[in-house]
Amino acid sequence: MTLPDLRTIAENAQKDAYSIDRIQWHKGVDSQRHYFPEILTPLYHCASYRTVLDDSDRKLYNQLYAQYISEQFIFLEDRFLCRVVEGLLPWAGQVSWDLKRCLEIFLEEEVKHTEMFRRLNRLCNPEVYGQSDFRFLQLRPLENKLIETMSKYPKALNFWIWIALLFEEKTIDCFTHYRMQQRDDQAQKVDPLHYQVHQFHMLDEARHVQIDEHLLHYIFNKANPFVRQMNIALLKKTMSNYTNLKRANIMILEQLCQVQTRLRSQVARLSDEVRAQNGQADYQVAQYSRKNFPKTFSYFDAAPDVRNAMRKVILTYHPQEESLSA
Ligand SMILES: [Fe+2]
Ligand SMILES: [Fe+2]
Repeated sequence: MTLPDLRTIAENAQKDAYSIDRIQWHKGVDSQRHYFPEILTPLYHCASYRTVLDDSDRKLYNQLYAQYISEQFIFLEDRFLCRVVEGLLPWAGQVSWDLKRCLEIFLEEEVKHTEMFRRLNRLCNPEVYGQSDFRFLQLRPLENKLIETMSKYPKALNFWIWIALLFEEKTIDCFTHYRMQQRDDQAQKVDPLHYQVHQFHMLDEARHVQIDEHLLHYIFNKANPFVRQMNIALLKKTMSNYTNLKRANIMILEQLCQVQTRLRSQVARLSDEVRAQNGQADYQVAQYSRKNFPKTFSYFDAAPDVRNAMRKVILTYHPQEESLSA
């Protein structure tokens, strides 16, 4: 698919603009249903999901996992991308009016998305999320420092563009799974409010992916060899962390077993099984494949240095033959 120019992206954003009041918040969440597509949750791919958990355990796990996903969006968009993109605005103003306009719209939309996911989590659990946006996601001081430095030097520390591309493309895939699960007669139906929030989110994110593609061309591809290699190394480290399930995923299991007292003796077993969903395990295949990330993977393919780094940390990424021989 050809990449629209920045002016067209900005015009499309204006045409597609929506108010979050169009979302049916007044209906609340349906706590009898799953909140997130099962196949995108790690425990779904573990034996215990079927042999140890019963329907109510699975439902609670799914609901807790959905709340963690909403936390992830708040973190990525409000605490990370908005700060970095704000740092980029003065430079963008000198490069292209259309680029600056696109980034301003991007910021407005991410502020809106943060509010959507915040409201959603508060409806799920007002007691917890009335106090803080984060329950499972906890940043280490070093990670906070890195984000702060990136927002000061968003062109030199530019691997955030790859992370933005990857996660914004993931939001589109996420909604595709919502739609597939909703249409599958055999599958659990998901809560309509979660479905709607992810649907509205996807509308904007499809354009954000296009902006990320432009930023790759404007910034990453124009960096000098030293800056480029440094950013590839940082991207590799970040992706290695994402593909190895740790902290937050274990906290979700601990919370599940805390509430479902029958499972208390199973927490170590469940944690071991989830930690084992790395490498080329089923969860990774469901999460990181060319089907989920057609654009990101094709950009990996096209840059030999990025391709070689990514194939070592995303083991489900198999570079396409044509690109290897090119
Ligand atoms: Fe967003
Ligand atoms: Fe976005």
